[in-house]
Amino acid sequence: MWFHWRVFQQRFPLKIISLMARKGGVGRTTIATNLAVAFMESGLRVGLIDLDPLCSVTAWGEIRESEEPIVADAPMKNLGKFLEAGRRLKLDIMLLDTPSSGGIDVHEAVLLSNFVLIPCRAGYFDIRAIKLTTDIAKLVGKPYAVMFNAVSPRDDQVVIAVRDELRAAGDRVLDAIVHQRTVLSASVALGSSAIEQDPAGKAAEEIRSLRDELVILAKIQAGKHSHKYKVKAA
Ligand SMILES: Nc1ncnc2c1ncn2[C@@H]1O[C@H](COP(=O)(O)OP(=O)(O)O)[C@@H](O)[C@H]1O
Ligand SMILES: [Mg+2]
Repeated sequence: MWFHWRVFQQRFPLKIISLMARKGGVGRTTIATNLAVAFMESGLRVGLIDLDPLCSVTAWGEIRESEEPIVADAPMKNLGKFLEAGRRLKLDIMLLDTPSSGGIDVHEAVLLSNFVLIPCRAGYFDIRAIKLTTDIAKLVGKPYAVMFNAVSPRDDQVVIAVRDELRAAGDRVLDAIVHQRTVLSASVALGSSAIEQDPAGKAAEEIRSLRDELVILAKIQAGKHSHKYKVKAA
């Protein structure tokens, strides 16, 4: 039995990616929901677990018309069981949306993750606060990457300069930058995403670049079962 379970896990290696930030409002939920659809678009089977008591992901799942991604509101103490369920369902990726409160719960979620994605805005206070979050990933010993979100085009040069500084200090910062785009804030309110609302738009293109960078960094691959999910444009 033990042997079969190992073979099963090797065939269906569920990748767990947590979105983490000690600062609120940086876009964890916006990026998690949009990335979920982007992964589905490339044929992966995706689950999205809401660990935030604010329950934004859960609300998104409730108004969403499509049954995918599979959305679950998991109390932290049951996270292990939900991840096991994800493996049994042969999901390829489980995204974990964590609360900004931090604490032992977030540490545990990170501990169970294969990769940690840390969204950050381009503001002065946001950049100053980033070390609080990267330190958790370092402490737990997980691979992580910072990504800049909700960037105003006039801040592009600042972001590139900060990115270089963070990289020089040893942090991994993604090339992909997601700009401030109305479709990103408007689509989540419909239980939808940029890719579904405006598949040829710039926001969709940026989310796909983010996805493609993560696929390489977190070594994400589709199991044999994966299907070409038809992401329906709105
Ligand atoms: N790239 C973006 N473009 C436009 N609005 C964004 C973007 N990212 C986040 N937002 C908005 O910023 C606010 C906070 O985002 P949210 O995803 O809820 O952050 P968090 O989950 O980290 O608290 C929301 O109103 C959301 O619509
Ligand atoms: Mg949130």
